[in-house]
Amino acid sequence: MSKLQQLYEGKAKRVYATQNADEVIVSYKDDATALDGLKKGTISGKGAINNRMTNFFMQMLEKEGVPTHFVEELNDRETVVKKVSIVPLEVIIRNISAGSFAKRYGVEEGIVFAEPTIEFSYKNDDLHDPLINSYHALALNLATKEEIKRIKELAFKVNDVLKAYFLKLNVKLVDFKLEFGRLSDGTIVLADEISPDTCRFWDADTNEKLDKDRFRRDMGGVEDAYNEMMRRVFGE
Ligand code: TMP
Ligand code: ASP
Repeated sequence: MSKLQQLYEGKAKRVYATQNADEVIVSYKDDATALDGLKKGTISGKGAINNRMTNFFMQMLEKEGVPTHFVEELNDRETVVKKVSIVPLEVIIRNISAGSFAKRYGVEEGIVFAEPTIEFSYKNDDLHDPLINSYHALALNLATKEEIKRIKELAFKVNDVLKAYFLKLNVKLVDFKLEFGRLSDGTIVLADEISPDTCRFWDADTNEKLDKDRFRRDMGGVEDAYNEMMRRVFGE
């Protein structure tokens, strides 16, 4: 399997066609952005870390009954995935208050919720990914009722699996963002990535941030945080 023409370039990944019309190759970059792309930088080694971690979690989730787009890891930053049409929703699950939740509702970070929350943003950088509810998603034809029900069910399942896993690594899974796609037959599968770019990870003892918030908030130690998560997951 090798790369043909580039189909798409996003902020953190490129997508290439392959010889197989149902599969594409994702290539992870070291580029990092925040604030809808306004803040730009590089996190050295990030592409390889996010590729490896995402593939590890996608395979773990498949075993737990969550269908994903994962096919095969090609090398340190490239992976073959099933071609999907992305549902233009950012699906965010939260276990602990942080980030935009804390800001929007005027609460401190670190409040542990009795139940996880789910929210949707309309994936649209020009509009700054506005928060929407499932009725808005239906009204905008972003997904069908059945698809939204399935997406919610899968997102909570992902949370159950990952939260329990990270706790064993002494990491709190604070919140994370998922994206889902449709296969050509309409099946909803988990797509995009699961990495320190798209999750908030806090050390369970110290609450030290081990994720992209260090870049977003200019805290320094960004590469060290990604490497520490790599070490906890893969023991290296
Ligand atoms: P938020 O608190 O800024 O809404 O972020 C919630 C989670 O979603 C957090 O784990 C980071 C992740 N996220 C992304 O993956 N992409 C984004 O563009 C944003 C804003 C957040
Ligand atoms: N992906 C988002 C952007 O570039 C940033 C983020 O993860 O906060 O705007």
